[in-house]
Amino acid sequence: MRKLFSFLFLVSLILSACGASTSTPVAEEITPVATEDTSPILYTDSSQPIEVRVEDLLKRMTLEEKIGQMTQVEKGSIQPGDITTYAIGSILSGGGGSPAKNTPQEWYTMVEGYQEEALATRLGIPLIYGVDAVHGHGNMQNATIFPHNIALGATNNPELVKAIGRATAEEILASGIPWNFAPVIAVVQDVRWGRTYEGFGEETALVTSLGTAYLEGMQTIQDGDVTSPGQTIFTLATPKHFLGDGATLWDSSNTEDYKLDQGNMQVPEEALRELYLPPYESAVDAGALNIMASFSSWKGTKMHAQEYLLTDVLKNELGFNGFIVSDWQAMDQIYPDDYYASIVTSVNAGVDMNMVPYDYVTFIETMKTAVDNGDIPEERIDDAVRRILRVKFSLGLFERPMPDVSLQKTVRSQEHLDLARQAVRESLVLLKNENDALPLSKETPVIFVAGQGANDLGLQSGGWTLEWQGKVGNQNEGTTILSGIRAAVSETSRVEFNSDGDFTEFTDEAGIPLIADVTFVVLAEKPYAEGVGDAANISLSNSEVKLLNDARQQSKTVVVILLSGRPRVITDELPLAEAWVAAWLPGTEGNGVADVLFGNYPFTGKTSYSWPRTNEQLPININNAKDKTGCDAPLFPFGYGLEYGESMPDILECK
Ligand code: BGC
Ligand code: BGC
Repeated sequence: MRKLFSFLFLVSLILSACGASTSTPVAEEITPVATEDTSPILYTDSSQPIEVRVEDLLKRMTLEEKIGQMTQVEKGSIQPGDITTYAIGSILSGGGGSPAKNTPQEWYTMVEGYQEEALATRLGIPLIYGVDAVHGHGNMQNATIFPHNIALGATNNPELVKAIGRATAEEILASGIPWNFAPVIAVVQDVRWGRTYEGFGEETALVTSLGTAYLEGMQTIQDGDVTSPGQTIFTLATPKHFLGDGATLWDSSNTEDYKLDQGNMQVPEEALRELYLPPYESAVDAGALNIMASFSSWKGTKMHAQEYLLTDVLKNELGFNGFIVSDWQAMDQIYPDDYYASIVTSVNAGVDMNMVPYDYVTFIETMKTAVDNGDIPEERIDDAVRRILRVKFSLGLFERPMPDVSLQKTVRSQEHLDLARQAVRESLVLLKNENDALPLSKETPVIFVAGQGANDLGLQSGGWTLEWQGKVGNQNEGTTILSGIRAAVSETSRVEFNSDGDFTEFTDEAGIPLIADVTFVVLAEKPYAEGVGDAANISLSNSEVKLLNDARQQSKTVVVILLSGRPRVITDELPLAEAWVAAWLPGTEGNGVADVLFGNYPFTGKTSYSWPRTNEQLPININNAKDKTGCDAPLFPFGYGLEYGESMPDILECK
């Protein structure tokens, strides 16, 4: 009997997946899935409103099943069979969490395997798989890697950012995943933060506009999309990290040797509402259905314990009716020595799903005990599960638990590559351009290119690419800055590359050292992510300055291309090159840089961060720099960026 019913259930799934009309809901025939409740089953009926389906399912769930929905496990930690045993609601890939063979098909098969375990549970609730695709699907090899948000901030082009959100959504779906832990909508106040590049910039209005555009790109269903009946969003975005993650104070972090990341913000509520809340208000208005809580604290209390902000402000005041996911093991930080109290506090404060991510059995048992003890009210559990189920229905997961495989052809499609290349072009910021060094003629006879960053997709992609901390080297498909330059110049131009900037081997017919017309010096930060990238000193290193000085020896003109996740302190070195270009972390389509250097396109990028003059003046941003003048002012203000024909103002003599 049971077998027959599950067969019928399967048929109903297949029928609805095929888009067949199920006027008499097949669901009614599968009553055995419910225990005591004998009312008609509505949650499997896609013609019912989402809220009706949510309530119908919720009333059939046991406490264990509800807690399972609130549990998110890292994919490497879940034991075979446990998704079914514990009715786990969500699995994630952390940074670098790829399958052994890193292809879209293998990702898809991996996620499908987990999904099958979820569908084998009593109620057949699909799981939701999440990943950090923060600049394209960075964990997946040969995905389209877009410039990091710092670069998108410099484009200040919401339409472009929306299209990138959309393209990223397609590439994660191609790998079986409907949920992206992005965008970061931090309003970053201190560029020493290791996550500066994940933010769009330091100004509230800019972050609000671009963050909302990204979310709309990911979530909006467009004409021609293959969707499930009842599905209301395309994929799920996660504005993060709520709230004020970019406003922590130096040395306020207790995590490892982090300085700013996961630290404490100490601002009055008016400032918090004026500077950091607006991007979330806008995201909620635009349909945000998931928000990640921040590791950081406000006035000494961890965000994961801030009932006022999570529940009163975000859920009640802003009307957010999606679910709040914790950050990675972040609930545990509330009381480092008291796991039980941490979980109770955080769930009661309003966090709905715990990114556990490792020891899910302990989390589940702790939750059960807390509910049994009356420390977490059942209404709170129901509220959390309602929110999670609402999202699963909104994604159409009950009708089609795995995305359409036809989306696999979007990975590195020409359309996505063109978009990424456009983003690179529009993000370049021209800082200095003495004697109109740029644009360069495509007929320039001799061009030298110096620095490892010129020929390294890992360096130009930064953190959250293949690995959490990024990965130096050329393991992805893509074009480097060097290959872009080679492709741009005429056949008569000679282009030579040396990662150490040593061009002594190149001589003319008479054996005299060749003098380049132009040397491009690419200076690149080593990739980093999160607090690992917190840095007090963001000046150029000695070896970078040496590279720059060496390049001068054999060149008439020097052009610096900076690859970095933040503005660097370059005040003393500016005179060493005729032109300086901030290229941020452009991702895999490095040929977009040459598009602008050789004048096919104009420079339009404007820095979305105040550019510091010294390390000592940090933090400096539009909010605290308003009244600063002379040497106290930033080197380049927020919004600075030259166009062709313009020259740098006289800023070095700041007295
Ligand atoms: C980060 C989040 C990320 C999560 C999962 C955390 O450490 O703070 O931004 O989404 O890990 O990788
Ligand atoms: C994971 C990341 C996560 C980080 C948190 C790493 O091991 O790969 O996804 O954000 O831990 O510290």
